[in-house]
Amino acid sequence: MERRDCDAVVLFGATGDLCYRKIFPALYHLVRRQLLTIPVIGVARQGADVKWLGDRVRKSLSEFVKDADQGAVSRLTGLLRYVDGDYNDRDTFVALRKALGDAQRPLHYLAIPPSMFATVAQHLSGTGGAEGARIVVEKPFGRDLASARELNRTLHAHFPESSIFRIDHYLGKEAVQNLLYFRFANSFLEPVWNRNYVASVQITMAETLGMEGRGRFYEEAGAIRDVMQNHLMQIVALLSLEPPVNTEGEALRDEKVKVLRAIRPLSPSQVARGQYIGYRKEPGVAADSQVETYAAMALAIDSWRWSGVPFYLRAGKRLPVTATEVVVDLRAPPANVFGDFGPEQPNHVRFRVGPDVAIALGAHTKKPGPVMTGSDVELFVAQQHGDNMDAYEVLISAALIGDTSHFAREDEVEAAWAIVDPVLQGMPAPYEYVPGSWGPPQAEKLLQGPCGWHNPGARPQDWTRSCARNEPG
Ligand code: BG6
Repeated sequence: MERRDCDAVVLFGATGDLCYRKIFPALYHLVRRQLLTIPVIGVARQGADVKWLGDRVRKSLSEFVKDADQGAVSRLTGLLRYVDGDYNDRDTFVALRKALGDAQRPLHYLAIPPSMFATVAQHLSGTGGAEGARIVVEKPFGRDLASARELNRTLHAHFPESSIFRIDHYLGKEAVQNLLYFRFANSFLEPVWNRNYVASVQITMAETLGMEGRGRFYEEAGAIRDVMQNHLMQIVALLSLEPPVNTEGEALRDEKVKVLRAIRPLSPSQVARGQYIGYRKEPGVAADSQVETYAAMALAIDSWRWSGVPFYLRAGKRLPVTATEVVVDLRAPPANVFGDFGPEQPNHVRFRVGPDVAIALGAHTKKPGPVMTGSDVELFVAQQHGDNMDAYEVLISAALIGDTSHFAREDEVEAAWAIVDPVLQGMPAPYEYVPGSWGPPQAEKLLQGPCGWHNPGARPQDWTRSCARNEPG
């Protein structure tokens, strides 16, 4: 990787929600760790000034950072500059170039609606702001395969691929990076991580929250576009990719693209969509909305390693807990020597990816006593509280030094869109489900074999699965 540090950060959409909730706190932590000492220039169309921006940053930190170090807060506000203007107006970008002063390698963070990306990219390149610069773009990257391709073409007209950083904040999460680490740093997994031993893989991303004022945005998205095409597909890729030669440069992304391309595009029979009762009454939501707040899917990977192993994915709002977990079920031993465990009680590897971090191995051990009969146990391999560094902090610091490995590449986002593209339109109406339940019962039908969905618990050690005898406790 060529290390070439940025010498300014430009925040488009500086007055918006994303900066307020995520980016200002991330910048604060970078300043606190002495990793950020360069100018931070806010751009917005607000009629505001640098004092207003400083107040906004302080307000954000008082809300989202516990016991902020006031010295670091002052250092961050001391780095701020502000440019006010319309993104359609070239003069805004001339003023920005002036505010950049001697900076030659700015990082432009586009925390703005994707419909504005083209205009901003074009003006940046017409006013000397694109040369030597990097650009960070937020998800959603397009709304289907065709629009993602179009967006890639637009950005490439002004920026080379190596300067484009497509954020998927899951890639900055400690636990998601740990999936890759755990897989390839441990030799005991190597012989079993394939179709010979793995029976199926389940990934559940459950959230208790509903729309929280994001109804208008969500109406344009739905669960498949909002989290499955990106966050969950990235988790699938990390679980299933072939070993990269290293984790620098393009090697990791090459392997992700390879496996994403091996995933069969979905057909409607592989997907169940749901909508929680009451969604249509949320502000900004149509009274007859067909948007899914829950989706489950069964993916097939046509590769040497994974052929015949179903990957089940599920994500939903207003579910019983907030937790993301992966469960890899192993096949039963060749003979049932003790006659007490069947295929409905597989050994498993369980990764808790959020909100906390845990890895557990499910095994059978003998119950004390004269009879050779067993019980299920889980060995916790690792368990930590939440992330040490927030995902945005990890990703912004990587972009500042030019490390693209934890960002989505052009072909990677397109490959992920290609998987879900056939089910984005023309699907039957979503099934209703009761808020606080595990979604529509129809999603159970996607699963083959004796086990139902594995349901994460509120704590990492609490989980359930609707298999005959595998309830914990
Ligand atoms: C975002 C989605 O990308 O991820 C939200 O737009 C979702 O709908 C969020 O709630 C979940 O992120 P996390 O980090 O809380 O799991």
